[in-house]
Amino acid sequence: MANKTDDRSAERPGGGWSTEGLGYLRDQEAKQRVYVVHPFLRDRVDMSHTKRSPEARLEEAMGLALAIDIQLVGGEVVALRERRPATFIGVGKIDELKAFVAAEEIDLLIFDCELTPGQQRNLERETKCKVIDRTALILEIFGARASTKEGELQVELAHLEYQRSRLVRSWTHLERQRGGSGFMGGPGETQIEADRRIIADRITRIKRQLEQVTRTRTLHRARRQKAPYPIIALVGYTNAGKSTLFNRLTKAEVLAEDMLFATLDPTMRALELPSGRRVILSDTVGFISELPTTLVAAFRATLEEVCEADVIVHVRDASHPDSNIQKLDVEDVLSELGVELSDEGEGTPFIEALNKIDLMGDDEQAALVTLDERQERTVAISGLTGDGCARLIEAVDKLLSTGDLNMQMTVPYSDGATQAWLHANSRIVSEKHGEEGITFNVFVDPVAWAKYSNRRR
Ligand code: GTP
Repeated sequence: MANKTDDRSAERPGGGWSTEGLGYLRDQEAKQRVYVVHPFLRDRVDMSHTKRSPEARLEEAMGLALAIDIQLVGGEVVALRERRPATFIGVGKIDELKAFVAAEEIDLLIFDCELTPGQQRNLERETKCKVIDRTALILEIFGARASTKEGELQVELAHLEYQRSRLVRSWTHLERQRGGSGFMGGPGETQIEADRRIIADRITRIKRQLEQVTRTRTLHRARRQKAPYPIIALVGYTNAGKSTLFNRLTKAEVLAEDMLFATLDPTMRALELPSGRRVILSDTVGFISELPTTLVAAFRATLEEVCEADVIVHVRDASHPDSNIQKLDVEDVLSELGVELSDEGEGTPFIEALNKIDLMGDDEQAALVTLDERQERTVAISGLTGDGCARLIEAVDKLLSTGDLNMQMTVPYSDGATQAWLHANSRIVSEKHGEEGITFNVFVDPVAWAKYSNRRR
């Protein structure tokens, strides 16, 4: 870890860049005391647009902050009459924050908004405290959570792109000339150009490495497609309970904790459904509202399984007051990824798992269960207690079997390959041993069967 950070800082452009960059929080020895500020424009709390109250937004930001290893001291919403170009918030509030920072020994202020580099620097100078904005916070979380090579590269790429966009904004008007920039460029090259080139080179290198990693993944996928198990992807808002459900269904060891983004890289496990059909269950990174677009692009590959899923299980925290808004957010992000949930025809079939029903009162639960019975696409569950999980699995099984054909066939004893294929890919109703071979009565996906039979001709 230390080496990686050293490596990065060696290539970090010098001067002017006040967000230390990825790994800042991880590099600290003691836990940082953190305070979260959610500024909002008083006259523009348009609930239909932002969809959430400022208090709910603050709560989410504090939840995000908790996902990194810090000591969260608290947070507040700050109502603004206008956004101030130099410091975002007003002078009076800055003075208050400064006093609070000193009294509470705050090490880091997180502003849950997008700050320009200038605003960030000014805020740091005025409050005498390190300041980061929402995008930098999400990058910190991604950086701390990335567990595969691909995840790490994607985070680094997103981070460099964030840095590059800020370089443009912060430096172009300065066009500072640094005399004799030596190996970094010919005489007269401006610092901004040199910085940009360092970042651009690094971006090119990372993209090349990513291509390599992605190619390896594609190979893995190709191999997996040979054993054509359908893919079931669990998606959902961060903290909705995906990993907990994944663990319950597969009994696998996956990091499940009361932290946002407990899962950055998709985790996959094979699972056998009641019909005997084998599927691959894939756990994915949690969505959040207003994920910066640069990050959505960078994480597209991480969510590849979702794009290829045969069924999507949308895990929702039904006990959360913003459950419906969260649902829309998830659907928005999915649609940005090119995934449309669909009841039939085009798009990906889906099921909504209304999770955490154990946290709900009897009446609320009863209402959900009624809804559940009315709508085939909804199943009320608790990943924690296991309630409803069997029904969820049955619903997935049913959804996958919708187009299956019932066939009867006799397979010679010598044709072990077809017997094995049927065991892996069909739902076997009965199997009778006769003189000519085994007579199977099966439900099978006609497309998969046609592909298999053609291959054997
Ligand atoms: P991200 O990785 O951040 O996207 O989270 P996730 O959706 O994978 O959520 P995770 O499974 O880590 O669960 C988040 C928190 O909710 C944990 O504290 C879980 O114990 C809790 N949780 C999950 N399912 C249930 C449930 O059915 N009931 C209750 N009471 N808590 C649950």
